[in-house]
Amino acid sequence: MNFTNLLFFFLSYMLISIGLSTGQEYCYNTGNFTANSTYGRNRDLILSTLASINATEGFYNATIGQDSDEVYALALCSGDSSAEECSNCVNLTSKEIMTKCPNQKEAFMWGWNLLDKAPCYVRYSNRSFFGVLEQFTPVVRSNTGDIASNLMTEFNRIWGNLMDGLVGKASTSRLKFATEEENLTQFQTIYALMQCTPDLSQSNCSLCLRGYVTAYDKCCNGKQGGHIQGPNCNYRWELYPFYTITATPDAPAPYPLPPPSTITTTEDNGGGTNSRTIVIIVFSIILFFLLVSLAYVFLRKRKAKQDTKDIKSNQGRNLFFLKN
Ligand SMILES: *[C@@H]1O[C@H](CO)[C@@H](O)[C@H](O)[C@H]1NC(C)=O
Ligand SMILES: *[C@@H]1O[C@H](CO)[C@@H](O)[C@H](O)[C@H]1NC(C)=O
Ligand SMILES: *[C@@H]1O[C@H](CO)[C@@H](O)[C@H](O)[C@H]1NC(C)=O
Ligand SMILES: *[C@@H]1O[C@H](CO)[C@@H](O)[C@H](O)[C@H]1NC(C)=O
Ligand SMILES: *[C@@H]1O[C@H](CO)[C@@H](O)[C@H](O)[C@H]1NC(C)=O
Ligand SMILES: *[C@@H]1O[C@H](CO)[C@@H](O)[C@H](O)[C@H]1NC(C)=O
Ligand SMILES: *[C@@H]1O[C@H](CO)[C@@H](O)[C@H](O)[C@H]1NC(C)=O
Ligand SMILES: *[C@@H]1O[C@H](CO)[C@@H](O)[C@H](O)[C@H]1NC(C)=O
Repeated sequence: MNFTNLLFFFLSYMLISIGLSTGQEYCYNTGNFTANSTYGRNRDLILSTLASINATEGFYNATIGQDSDEVYALALCSGDSSAEECSNCVNLTSKEIMTKCPNQKEAFMWGWNLLDKAPCYVRYSNRSFFGVLEQFTPVVRSNTGDIASNLMTEFNRIWGNLMDGLVGKASTSRLKFATEEENLTQFQTIYALMQCTPDLSQSNCSLCLRGYVTAYDKCCNGKQGGHIQGPNCNYRWELYPFYTITATPDAPAPYPLPPPSTITTTEDNGGGTNSRTIVIIVFSIILFFLLVSLAYVFLRKRKAKQDTKDIKSNQGRNLFFLKN
């Protein structure tokens, strides 16, 4: 493996890691349970059974326990995942919630499965939340890339129409899930996904999604994509396919990995991962490789010049080639 390949390998690995870690958990601050409490055991039990349900309907709610130890749980898979994919995704997401929210009485997470399909969803609480649209200030995440300024007028028209139509399509569908694509230019396509938990009424689902579209537009108009997740709905759009396109059965698969679009937190109410960290890590790693390659070129030159063996530079090279 030469240096360029090595560099490429590390960078592709970074992208995959970012792509797979898009799941975001949200641990509520409405109360904690203590370790070994009945509530805690009920929570762990119900979360670990969610994955074994037969999710051909893609949606499942359940309760366990009594009175103050009662746990309400809901699991959901996107309309396009098989029973096995659904179970795997719910399994991973339930485990992640238990790790990230070890003692919180309420939490939810939109988790991503390994096939880069639309996410599944897991939520639990000590109160009944089925059918309730919750007041919630979501985290708006947007891509850093900009839409070309000469396309903005056209973009706003196409994007607005697409989102309006999609709110209607998602809120009236049985599983409250819809995706839609629209060409922006000959070479660029807008891909959008909207989803509510199916226990919401059509009007509450529509309210929730419309609110997200407005929140995104206010914050991030002109950016190349964005993502908003809350307890009742999930909204994402990109200039690349990030879900299985259902409208075209003969669409090519598997889809390419997301391009290296970095994500920034533009609004943060305390939930989830800090995306800024990811950006910093990516830049640090790129900087690190630049320095290593400069050092490598420098050492090569130096070795060519003076034919005498220099232990230090040899050590440096050996260290480097250990990675081969
Ligand atoms: C849920 O737990 C919190 C914190 O312990 C408590 O204040 C609240 O009343 C509980 N809700 C229900 C419906 O039991
Ligand atoms: C619950 O526990 C977390 C730590 O896991 C803590 O940060 C938080 O303040 C606690 N919340 C309440 C309401 O006690
Ligand atoms: C929980 O229970 C287990 C066994 O019942 C015990 O070993 C453990 O120490 C307990 N943990 C706490 C924090 O009480
Ligand atoms: C969940 O994943 C674990 C491995 O991490 C596996 O042992 C278990 O059987 C899975 N549960 C279901 C219901 O698929
Ligand atoms: C789930 O249910 C469907 C029909 O309702 C059945 O065909 C399928 O075998 C079931 N899958 C599992 C894993 O039980
Ligand atoms: C699941 O949610 C529905 C409302 O969408 C409710 O009628 C039903 O009782 C819930 N099931 C359980 C087991 O709580
Ligand atoms: C919508 O959600 C609210 C809670 O925010 C609830 O009171 C209301 O009943 C819901 N509306 C419908 C039609 O389900
Ligand atoms: C987008 O453009 C491609 C060709 O560039 C065409 O095949 C496709 O049907 C168009 N899609 C839509 C939704 O208009």
